[in-house]
Amino acid sequence: MKNFLLILRALVLSPLLVVCQEAFKITHGPYLQALGENGVNIVFTTNRSGIAWVELAPADSSHFYAKERPKHFASAHGQKTEGTVHNVRIEGLQPATRYRYRIYSREVLSHESYILQYGNIAASAAYRAELPTFTTLDPRASQISFAMVNDIHQQNDVMKKLLGQVDWKSNQLVFFNGDMQNNSRNEAQIFSSFMDTAISIFADRIPMYYARGNHETRGEFASQFPVISPRPPVSCIIYSVPGPFAL
Ligand SMILES: [Fe+2]
Repeated sequence: MKNFLLILRALVLSPLLVVCQEAFKITHGPYLQALGENGVNIVFTTNRSGIAWVELAPADSSHFYAKERPKHFASAHGQKTEGTVHNVRIEGLQPATRYRYRIYSREVLSHESYILQYGNIAASAAYRAELPTFTTLDPRASQISFAMVNDIHQQNDVMKKLLGQVDWKSNQLVFFNGDMQNNSRNEAQIFSSFMDTAISIFADRIPMYYARGNHETRGEFASQFPVISPRPPVSCIIYSVPGPFAL
């Protein structure tokens, strides 16, 4: 009888668990990091572990799917990376050039030894949606237009008011100059504290440069800062910005 009940429970509950499980989806982002003359990092997150890639096209008048676009995978040391925070580094771009992009992730259901089981694909909207664009840096630029905020301390409404004063037609960069949060607790807190607001205003198409304040060094997630804000592969100290400028 006991075995019969166990089997009955498995038969009834297993399909229910599958039906009730949330669909695989993109949860935050994308946002740009480490934009240079020839490359960029595109960062986004998913609700469960997966591999990720970005399809890239020039920002011209062609349909995004007029032809197959190159896929750039999130990878490290020659391997596709699996996780919930996806960091796609794209190299080989032309300076001072505008590109369109679409983000993708495919769920990894299991990975045991050399056997990988994939699930569904999640992607940013493309049908009747305007894909985000970015422009690589111009080495011949003689001037730069940027905005800088700091000491936001997780107050989304304050950041919204400040960034509401920015002329987004001419502004090229945004600096987060420290203390955007009170302390760094986990991935979800970073997005709810300020990053989701930043993404909704500018960060999917205009690069954000993030300098840590003392509050970004506090909390159990503080050591994960480079995961959320990846640096250019060549330097941990100097960012490139357009023309004869550096940070
Ligand atoms: Fe502060």
